Amino acid sequence: MNTSHFLTPFIFFFFFFTTHFHTNAEAANSSCPINFDYVTTFPWDTSLCHAPPRPGCCQTLRSVFGMGLAIYLNRTSNFYLPDSNTSSSCMSDFHEKLLSMSISVPFYPACYDTNFFVNNPLTSCAGIRTVDDWTRIVDPYIQLESVCNGDLTRLTQCSMCRDAGLRINSYLVSLHPNSTKCFFFAVFYAAAIANEFGPEDRRISSCVLAIPMLPISTDDRKPNHRARNLIVGLLGGLTGLCTAGVCFIAYKKYTKKKKQDLLHQKYVLSVQSRVVLPNTGSKWFQVSELEQATNGFSEKNIIGRGGFGVVYKGTLSDGTEVAVKQILDMDSKCDDEFTNEAEIISKIRHRNLLALRGFCVTSESFKGKRRYLVYDYMPNGNLDDHIFNAREHLSWPQRKNIILDIAKGLGYLHYGIKPSIFHRDIKSTNILLDSEMKARVADFGLAKQTSEGQSHLTTRVAGTYGYLAPEYALYGQLTEKSDVYSFGIVILEIMSGRRVLVGSSEPSKILITDWAWELVKSGRVEEIFHGSIRDVGPKAVMERFVRVGILCAHVMVGLRPTVADALKMLEGDVDIPRLPDRPLPLSHEILQETSFTYSTFTSQESGGKSSIGSS
Ligand SMILES: *[C@@H]1O[C@H](CO)[C@@H](O)[C@H](O)[C@H]1NC(C)=O
Ligand SMILES: *[C@@H]1O[C@H](CO)[C@@H](O)[C@H](O)[C@H]1NC(C)=O
Ligand SMILES: *[C@@H]1O[C@H](CO)[C@@H](O)[C@H](O)[C@H]1NC(C)=O
Ligand SMILES: *[C@@H]1O[C@H](CO)[C@@H](O)[C@H](O)[C@H]1NC(C)=O
Repeated sequence: MNTSHFLTPFIFFFFFFTTHFHTNAEAANSSCPINFDYVTTFPWDTSLCHAPPRPGCCQTLRSVFGMGLAIYLNRTSNFYLPDSNTSSSCMSDFHEKLLSMSISVPFYPACYDTNFFVNNPLTSCAGIRTVDDWTRIVDPYIQLESVCNGDLTRLTQCSMCRDAGLRINSYLVSLHPNSTKCFFFAVFYAAAIANEFGPEDRRISSCVLAIPMLPISTDDRKPNHRARNLIVGLLGGLTGLCTAGVCFIAYKKYTKKKKQDLLHQKYVLSVQSRVVLPNTGSKWFQVSELEQATNGFSEKNIIGRGGFGVVYKGTLSDGTEVAVKQILDMDSKCDDEFTNEAEIISKIRHRNLLALRGFCVTSESFKGKRRYLVYDYMPNGNLDDHIFNAREHLSWPQRKNIILDIAKGLGYLHYGIKPSIFHRDIKSTNILLDSEMKARVADFGLAKQTSEGQSHLTTRVAGTYGYLAPEYALYGQLTEKSDVYSFGIVILEIMSGRRVLVGSSEPSKILITDWAWELVKSGRVEEIFHGSIRDVGPKAVMERFVRVGILCAHVMVGLRPTVADALKMLEGDVDIPRLPDRPLPLSHEILQETSFTYSTFTSQESGGKSSIGSS
């Protein structure tokens, strides 16, 4: 990923197509229908392209060339140039303009395939060739006209337009999977047709076409620039009065602030560039949007505090309720966690997994670096509170459905996507409940995406005591069965209303699995069921759930079922194998033999609310 590109995600897409290195440069003599005079007159920032050209130069040139195509679209209603001879001559016209500005970068074939904007059925965009085609196919879906019109200087305005462009792209690609040009078309359409000012207006081109601009000196429209100009003007008037010293200090201050702003901006961009946004609808938020949504991150809006940060409730300007999680620690490990979660969770969509709406990174001198993840708001909070703290107990059908929901969510992570994802931190505080009490697995801060051909030994064991599979906690051996283990513990917690470590006084605390297994073995399974469901629910089914829980949380990895099998057992589709005896009570002997001393183990108890990482 090269550095100048994440300037806006729009341009980011220019990465996605490959350029083919063949020239048919001198072939053409069909004259180009585009007048490239704007290349020399438009105030774009050419600095990346002066010798030696720097990364990002090609993308800049593509954007500037794109402006010509947008102008052409406005004039002719055609997205494509008529033929490859015309296209070649456009590219050489463009190249000549660049040469006249002392930019000698070979625009084609280095930056564009000469035929990229010539219609080719293999790489088209849903068969669209003209504005009429576009209107016919896209119109009922989304109106770029409404979000991409007007002044797009403001970042919120611009990002709304950009998001609409991304949505249209994913929509069209879903219609015609081989489409490669839809994103460009959306860009050109937004600049040339949807917007009243058109592509040659810097308020539009800098947002939609992502053309880097020279700082404005005259003809200002942006209010902050108008202010700056006013200051420049005033300074001019005052020069006679102003002593050299004062001016110098003011100038120093100004440049220092500018430098700082640049540093902040650089940080934000560097984090953003590390997250590859797939087309799932998640997006980058401006911090101002989140501030507005959460009443300025008011204390009153705090709905949770966890190992990784504070969670605020917020309401976006369109009325949607969201949960905004601020990642608190400021070390770079947290940047990793942030980008990890952002990237993993934005790839997945499943009704039993908490959906991510977007991310936000910001950095400023006063408040420092801040990172946020924005999720759907879950009005019923987390499962832990419902099991252990709620005044109203969960009913049997609710408990059953929650367990099945978790199994389905996990099943999707393990089998529904490739490469599969291990959550690594399944526990009742990480299961959230929506308005219908449907469960959703949340918190992917520790999730790990498997990679083909890589052994599953990890050096950094992370997760929560009590829920950690022993082989993983002790030897760092990570498999899908580690999640199954934690899931088993959660099943038992849900069924019994008891925490992972059972017992009142420290030394006599035992693991919930050992406790349940003893009761099952001695035929007293009813004693496991929580009081509120003991005499209400169907005993045979509830016993099945408990047995599956015990099996899932078995010490021996090989005896645990996969999540898919566990789900079948829960649903009664397959029989549960006879429960093998547990070799030894886990909470004592194994832990004493290892670097985890018993005291560190128990000091983290009380439901294992704290997350740990150890090397
Ligand atoms: C393009 O140019 C080549 C050679 O200059 C010519 O043979 C060919 O017919 C032209 N094609 C079109 C579509 O004009
Ligand atoms: C190309 O076309 C222009 C007119 O459009 C003409 O003046 C010129 O001679 C032509 N060049 C060649 C090589 O055919
Ligand atoms: C998409 O491209 C692949 C390979 O390039 C081809 O096999 C497939 O038929 C194409 N699909 C459509 C809908 O054109
Ligand atoms: C071309 O742009 C102008 C001004 O930007 C606009 O009024 C006109 O409607 C556009 N043409 C088309 C076909 O949209």
